[in-house]
Amino acid sequence: MRDHFEIRDQDGLGRIGELSVPRAGVTVETPALLPVINPHVRTVEPSRLESEFGAEILITNSYIFYGSDDYREKALDRGLHDVLDFDGAIMTDSGSFQLAEYGEIDVTTPEILQFQHDVGSDIGTPVDIPTPPDVPREEAEDELATTQERLEVAEGVEVGEMLVNAPVQGSTYPDLREEAGRHAEATDLDVFPVGAVVPLMNDYRYAEMVDVVAGAKRGLGADAPVHLFGAGHPMMFALAVAMGCDLFDSAAYALYARDDRYLTVRGTEQLDDLDYFPCSCPVCADYTPAEMRTLADREREELLAEHNLHVTSQEMRTVKQALRAGNLLELVETRARAHPAMLDGYRALTAHAEQLEREDSVSKGAFFYLSGESARRPEVVRHHRRLERLNPEGDVLLTEGGPSDRYDESWRVVAPFGPFPRDLSETYPLTAEVPEEMDAEGYRSAAEGVALLAEANPETEFTLAYHDWPESALKVVPERVETVDLSG
Ligand code: GUN
Ligand code: ZN
Repeated sequence: MRDHFEIRDQDGLGRIGELSVPRAGVTVETPALLPVINPHVRTVEPSRLESEFGAEILITNSYIFYGSDDYREKALDRGLHDVLDFDGAIMTDSGSFQLAEYGEIDVTTPEILQFQHDVGSDIGTPVDIPTPPDVPREEAEDELATTQERLEVAEGVEVGEMLVNAPVQGSTYPDLREEAGRHAEATDLDVFPVGAVVPLMNDYRYAEMVDVVAGAKRGLGADAPVHLFGAGHPMMFALAVAMGCDLFDSAAYALYARDDRYLTVRGTEQLDDLDYFPCSCPVCADYTPAEMRTLADREREELLAEHNLHVTSQEMRTVKQALRAGNLLELVETRARAHPAMLDGYRALTAHAEQLEREDSVSKGAFFYLSGESARRPEVVRHHRRLERLNPEGDVLLTEGGPSDRYDESWRVVAPFGPFPRDLSETYPLTAEVPEEMDAEGYRSAAEGVALLAEANPETEFTLAYHDWPESALKVVPERVETVDLSG
C-alpha cells in the first residue's frame, strides 16, 4: 500500500481518493483536475483558480522556466508558488511534450528533476518519451526501454519531499502498457501518469484510449494513483474515471478558448455557431453568444477560458457525486450518447467488465438499465459468474412469472441477469430498475445466464418460462432446457 494515496470510495474501477502531497502540506481529493498554467500566457490567473474554480493543484511546465534566463532566475530565486501566486500543490512537467513536438530537448532527467526540486515543485516529472500511437512495435519497445531507464535514474535523484511521476508509455500496445505499468509500480516513484494519449483523444479514439488505460491499470494494480496526461476535455471524464484515472490536466480550457471553442460535456462548439449558451456559469449568465462575439480578442479568450474551466470543474464534481452515489456507470452510459466515438469508448469499457468486476463494489444503490450496453456491465458479469457456482437440484423452474409448487425449486428470471433463487430478489444488483420494454441485448444476456446455469448443473432438469423473448435470445438457451412461452 502506498502511504500517500488512500482510496475512500469505489465504483467500477473509479474511486474517490486522497493524495497527500507532503511538500505542499496539502491533501488533494481525487479525481482532481489540474489546470495547466503556461507562465507566458496565464489566461486565467493562478490566484483565482482556487477560490473561483476549486483547484487544489495545478500543473506547469518546468522546461519553460528552465529554458528562459529570465524565468529560470525568477523561479530559482522566489520559488514557483510565489512566481505563480498559488498556495495549493504544484505539479511540474519535464519538457517531454517539447521532446515529442520538436524531437529534441536540452536537458537530462537528473538535471530537470533537480531543477524542479530547486524551484519548489511538489510533484516532479522525469524526461519520459511520449511514444505516439500506431508506431511499429519495435519502436514502442525501444522507446519504452529508454523511459524505463530514466525512471530508474529518477529513483536515484535526491529530491527531498517532492513526489515524482513515473509515466507509463507503450504506444497503442496494451501489453506494453501493462508491462510499463508493472515496471513503474515496482520503482519507488509516486504517481503514475498514462502518457501520450493526447493524439488518441484529439482523434476521438476513445475505445483505444480505454484499452491503453486498461493495460496500464492491469500492470499498476489498484493502489497506484493514476494520472491521464493531457486529458482535459470534460466529455471523457466519466469514462476515464470509471477506468480508474485519478488525476487529469487541462490545457484544453485555454487552448480551445484561443480558437473561440466552447467546451460542453457533449463536445466542443464553435462560438460562431452558438445562439444560446447551454450553461449557467458566471460567464454564461452574464453574456449571450452574440454579445461575446463583439468583445475584443483578449477579453473574449479570457471569458471563454473561464467558461471552459467552469464546465470542466463542474463535470468533475458531477462525476464525483455519481461515484459517491454508486451510479458512475449510469453516468458513463449517459455521456456515451454524446458522440458515437464515446459509445465506442463505453463499449470498450464493458469489454473489460471482468477487470472492472474484480474491483467494483458488491453493493450499490440501484442498478438502472439504460440501454443494451447495460447488459454488459460488470454486475451482470459477476452474476453470471455466480451462476456457474449455484447448484439447484431436481426439477427446476426458471420463470419470469410467479412461483409454482409443481417443481422442486422455482427461481426468478430477470433480464439482463438471468435466473436467481427468489431469496436473492432483494439484493444488489437484482433489485435493478429495468424498462417495461426490455431490448434484445437484455434478453440475450438473461438467456446466457440460463445457459451458464444449465451447463454447470448437467444432472438438473430445467424449464424456462418466459414472456415474448426474441429469437436471438432463445437460440442461446440449450436444447435440453424445456421452454414455455407464458404469453400463450
Ligand atoms: N503531457 C501529455 N502527454 C505527456 C506525456 O506522455 N509525458 C509527459 N511528460 N507529459 C505529457
Ligand atoms: Zn458557462
